[in-house]
Amino acid sequence: MAIKLGHNLLKVMTHIKCRGKFYPRTDNAVIRTAVPDDKVPWNIEWPEYNPVTYTAPHLLGTGDQLPSWADPEDMAGVCPKWNSPDGNVNRKSHIGDYEVHNNKPRNPCGRTGVQGRGCLGRWGPNHAADPIVTRWKTEKDESGSSKMVTHPKTSMPILQFVAIKRKDCGEWAIPGGMVDPGEDSTSTLLREFLEEALNIEETSVAEERHSIVNQVSRFFRDIAIRQLIHSGYVDDPRNTDNAWMETMAVNFHQPSEIADSCLPSLNAGSDAAEAVWVDICSSNSLYASHSDFLKAVTMLRGAHW
Ligand code: BGC
Repeated sequence: MAIKLGHNLLKVMTHIKCRGKFYPRTDNAVIRTAVPDDKVPWNIEWPEYNPVTYTAPHLLGTGDQLPSWADPEDMAGVCPKWNSPDGNVNRKSHIGDYEVHNNKPRNPCGRTGVQGRGCLGRWGPNHAADPIVTRWKTEKDESGSSKMVTHPKTSMPILQFVAIKRKDCGEWAIPGGMVDPGEDSTSTLLREFLEEALNIEETSVAEERHSIVNQVSRFFRDIAIRQLIHSGYVDDPRNTDNAWMETMAVNFHQPSEIADSCLPSLNAGSDAAEAVWVDICSSNSLYASHSDFLKAVTMLRGAHW
């Protein structure tokens, strides 16, 4: 599926979420060195900077004990191909070449106050993909035909997106996820949507399964208006000085001339506890950078924010 790769619609500012006091998922046991805004860039001298090193215990195993999505702690014997595809693993960043010091990649957006991988599997970029599926909010008028609903304050039409409630943190989010080893980001967009918003893994009747996969594949490939919203670094709380999240977020928008929904009814599965259509507005509080992605979509489509 060729996604129209326009220019990136989102500018990433200095990272903030990965400079909070505590490293996430550690019961506040891992404390980041406080990095002031002016000391974030690596080219600013800071000789005393020596933050704690933390890599989650489940990432320190070897052989069968190491999850398939994770690198070994010691990369010396593996001869990784930094800044390029490396077998099943994409070690290339969306935003250009990163530096590598002592076999450890350096976060291209600067210091974070913790070294190691934290709870991320890969040294360097950890790739995810986020499908932002949208449609206009409509209602029936007296004659029974559909019309777009506008917001009373801005008089702008309201967009709706497919949101999921994440099981891990309880936050609402776009139904995205990590790119599996050997997978390309475009396949991840479809797979994650099928798993989290349509519970494809637990749809046991083969015919129903095929019909859902076909319908969504067709929507993603042939029907939706597609636009790349972001491909690059994400200011994610899990980022460290040596490991960080990157994502490719793509908007799949249902054309307004199609009145009925092109997609099957939503049904949460996998890492999602709920899946629903949600009206997009600035007060939605969402996981990681997802609000920024949605804001960019509303600007692109001329919708209420
Ligand atoms: C999530 C994505 C998110 C990315 C970066 C992944 O774990 O599944 O939705 O964009 O992290 O925060």
